[in-house]
Amino acid sequence: MYYIISMDRIKTGIPGYDTIIQGGYIPKSVNLVSGGAGTGKTIFGLQFIWNGVTRFLEPGLYVSFEENIRDLEADALAMGWDFSKYPKKLKCIYHAPYEIENFVDRLEKEINQLKAKRVVIDSTSTFGMALKDDYEVRRKLYELIAALKKIDCVSILTSEIIGGGDVSGAGSLSRFGVEEFVSDSVTLLYFAGLGGHSDRTLRVIKSREINQKKGLFPMEITSKGIVVHVKKDMYE
Ligand SMILES: Nc1ncnc2c1ncn2[C@@H]1O[C@H](COP(=O)(O)OP(=O)(O)OP(=O)(O)O)[C@@H](O)[C@H]1O
Ligand SMILES: [Mg+2]
Repeated sequence: MYYIISMDRIKTGIPGYDTIIQGGYIPKSVNLVSGGAGTGKTIFGLQFIWNGVTRFLEPGLYVSFEENIRDLEADALAMGWDFSKYPKKLKCIYHAPYEIENFVDRLEKEINQLKAKRVVIDSTSTFGMALKDDYEVRRKLYELIAALKKIDCVSILTSEIIGGGDVSGAGSLSRFGVEEFVSDSVTLLYFAGLGGHSDRTLRVIKSREINQKKGLFPMEITSKGIVVHVKKDMYE
């Protein structure tokens, strides 16, 4: 007998990854992508937005707290993703970390204007940079995530883990140690330290409402973006 799971899923379109999370993200969910420097967090976010616009007809907003949006768009173009082709459906914006007080208001306006269905916020590490203490960072992060959960879109927050994260899954999963508790799913990107092909690795640590495939999956960054290698029947 076959059981059909009727729950809608929002496909990331990242090869292999949707299989790990049983078809895609949960509608309206907030998803954390964490990892050390250079592990592929930004490319993951760009690919999610690009696939949304080009394959699933879902407008996407990419928010960066790094000043140079041109560099970001050039990174996307290097993967073959020409963001300038979709000016009405795809938007990258810069928000200054020292103007964080008005961020949620601006975010809501931008999402409404674009009718965005996908949002990436890159990264919580830079988001919290100008805030004076951990209490303030947590307060603003809760406010941000609460706002995102009310809107009908799926979001990714990236977070840099100092030291690169622990491949065993122990230790902190995000920059401020709160993002993982308020996010619906947590994906960690690592360098496994093995070198060669299998050096990049991905693991889904938690995902609310989803029985994700467990374990470490080899990941590659190719000239067309991220590919996660999932063998059939692996970790079932
Ligand atoms: N065309 C490509 N082919 C293979 N690897 C690439 C390609 N373009 C970029 N990369 C790899 O992707 C890495 C950068 O990924 P990305 O910028 O997404 O990382 P990040 O986790 O956002 O880093 P940071 O913490 O510095 O923001 C580079 O270090 C490089 O190794
Ligand atoms: Mg980055």
